[in-house]
Amino acid sequence: MGASDPLLRISGLHKSFSVDGRRLPVLVDCALEVGRGEVVAIVGRSGSGKSTLLNMIGLLDRADGGEHVFDGVDVTRLGEGRRARLRNTGVGFVFQTFHLLERRTALANVCVPMVLGGVPAVRRRAHGRRLLESVGLRDRVTSRPHQLSGGEQQRVALARALSMDPAMVLADEPTGALDGATSEQIMDQLLVQARTRGTAVVIVTHEPSVAAAADRRIAIEEGRTRPAE
Ligand SMILES: Nc1ncnc2c1ncn2[C@@H]1O[C@H](COP(=O)(O)OP(=O)(O)OP(=O)(O)O)[C@@H](O)[C@H]1O
Ligand SMILES: [Mg+2]
Repeated sequence: MGASDPLLRISGLHKSFSVDGRRLPVLVDCALEVGRGEVVAIVGRSGSGKSTLLNMIGLLDRADGGEHVFDGVDVTRLGEGRRARLRNTGVGFVFQTFHLLERRTALANVCVPMVLGGVPAVRRRAHGRRLLESVGLRDRVTSRPHQLSGGEQQRVALARALSMDPAMVLADEPTGALDGATSEQIMDQLLVQARTRGTAVVIVTHEPSVAAAADRRIAIEEGRTRPAE
């Protein structure tokens, strides 16, 4: 693929769910292009389908139809094994509720994608330490999640999301459980990652300040995407 091709290209994407034997259309016609290093915010009211769209982008779920190309690969044609590998190496995830393993240390949590990716133990521990240092948690390598504040836990989750150096990070309301100053820190770290490493970031948010910091905003309304202010 050429350097000018977007990293992600989605068009005509649609998805419905089966609820009580009836089809509930959630995404009707969604289109989205994201370039390398671009930071795009997705906004829309609760239930509009933001997480559903993010799950498609992150290869966690399949659309019913439409075009979906990621990093030059038509992912609609991939079998489950190849989708899982592409998800592990190409995409990093950050969620509102952190999703850390409670009984494991910060370092072990950061290393999870590298374990799945077959990175040798010595290398992954060294890389995990560097990542924790880069998010300001050098002194919390052996802390368990319950010993960390919400903001610190989210920084561990961010380090984990970056551990395979993915082309794209997907964040679903990553600052929803944090106070204003801590939200800003997390958003700053996502922006630094985009600017310095060329990582694309797609972030779902209800917070105007987070959306305003993105390069571009897309709204979902009645199952359709449109550019937002
Ligand atoms: N697996 C599922 N089965 C049935 N319905 C679903 C499923 N997943 C999502 N939905 C429905 O799809 C709609 C969109 O849900 P989604 O979680 O994408 O919304 P959202 O925009 O992320 O909302 P919020 O801002 O509250 O997180 C909702 O009506 C939800 O009930
Ligand atoms: Mg959601």
